[in-house]
Amino acid sequence: MKKLTKNNHSFKKSKKGIYKKVAVIGCGYVGLTSGICLANIGHRVICVDNDETKIKSLISGKIPIYEPGLEDLMKKVTSIKTGPRLEFSNSLEYAIKESEIIFVAVGTPSNPDGSADLSYVENVARTIALNIDEYKLVVEKSTVPVQTADWIKTTINRYKKNNIEFDVASNPEFLREGSAVKDFMFPDRIVIGVETERAKKLMLELYEPIKAEKIVVDTKSSELIKHASNSFLAMKISFINAVANVCERTGADIEKVALGMGLDKRIGRSFLNAGIGYGGSCFPKDVKAFIWISQNIGYDFGLLKEVEKVNQTQRKLFIKKIEETLWILKDKKIGVLGLAFKPDTDDIRESPAIDVIKILKEKGAKLKVYDPKAMEKFKVIFPDLEYCKNVYQVVENSDCLIFLTEWDEFKKINFKKVKQIMSQAIILDGRNMFSPEKMKKLGFVYKSIGRE
Ligand code: UDX
Repeated sequence: MKKLTKNNHSFKKSKKGIYKKVAVIGCGYVGLTSGICLANIGHRVICVDNDETKIKSLISGKIPIYEPGLEDLMKKVTSIKTGPRLEFSNSLEYAIKESEIIFVAVGTPSNPDGSADLSYVENVARTIALNIDEYKLVVEKSTVPVQTADWIKTTINRYKKNNIEFDVASNPEFLREGSAVKDFMFPDRIVIGVETERAKKLMLELYEPIKAEKIVVDTKSSELIKHASNSFLAMKISFINAVANVCERTGADIEKVALGMGLDKRIGRSFLNAGIGYGGSCFPKDVKAFIWISQNIGYDFGLLKEVEKVNQTQRKLFIKKIEETLWILKDKKIGVLGLAFKPDTDDIRESPAIDVIKILKEKGAKLKVYDPKAMEKFKVIFPDLEYCKNVYQVVENSDCLIFLTEWDEFKKINFKKVKQIMSQAIILDGRNMFSPEKMKKLGFVYKSIGRE
């Protein structure tokens, strides 16, 4: 595997040879990436999950998710001559007893009312309390509402059968799917929320090999940094999507507006890409949870409610654009390119493609779909779509082609060939992947977001 480097400084192992015994509870995107990367920087890690199939797959060397570079890194740390630094288990008790630092990286899905479901977190806290036999540092890795660390501490004290000491820390993760390994190994910052000097020392030693700014704060501030950061990024996306709607009514070009805005260092160009809105397992959930937490402590976070509303409206406006172009959708052959919530992942959670395809199906359109990685997961929700092997199978004889995920593969499409095999040369681009002038010159009716 290509050596992990950034600006040609190859990665430095912990000089002091300090390695920690770490358990990571929950083998999802965050838990698995964190566990493998912590092993990669020299620690001994046990990754735990209650899904036996997932554990068996991991033990066999297979990663059950698509995440560039993660499987290679796992193979590297499990084949170390001095013995594997990474093991997988379905026994929470074993991992707790064998480790000093215990990362809680279990799911915190949304409840119907928008609050975070913390039952998995509470279950881990209780199990730790029943198995604590020496000092433990329990670390929140999952995105959790502010004050959760206090609840974990209360729970462990309540169920503990002895008076062995422990600490609770918060260490939120900022990795993005598709660049998870890079984001973990070369983060903009590492946020450490602790209440004791002992916990602070342990966490700083744990992350010593990672050369990045580390900020040490209290647990509540650390928990809020995560929710506030994700909510701000979601707000940035909804803001540019709202401006795109103004562009559509005034003849301005959203790409040029985003360029001009982004050159202001206080704004920055990233996360100003207008499109059909954000999806994924984090932004939608975290915005909802932040709204709920705020409501719960007596603050009406209206700004975030609007962020959510703009995001949901973007999907509807895209469907409207398809109808304005095609008129009747019933029996129209529509080719759909891109199903994942973003490129370089197989994840379809809250993907805009789910909403768009649901509505197109309801309106009687005949759909052919293709995505480089996400079709297997999409088949679970929509088994009766026509899943194609490649772009051109989708394009053939279609009345319209819509782009929902900006995979690099789609940027290499031969549009001259596309034009010959489509039945109507109509393209709707939900991610502003192509140049309107070029597409029109090729003879397409081409529509995108926030520009002519
Ligand atoms: C996000 C945060 O970026 C990450 O820090 C956090 O740890 C987890 O949640 P992720 O959800 O993996 O990461 O993907 P991200 O790259 O942030 O994109 C989220 C969604 O926003 C995607 O649906 C993407 O298509 C959309 N997006 C992103 C836009 O619509 N416009 C943009 O400019 C950027």
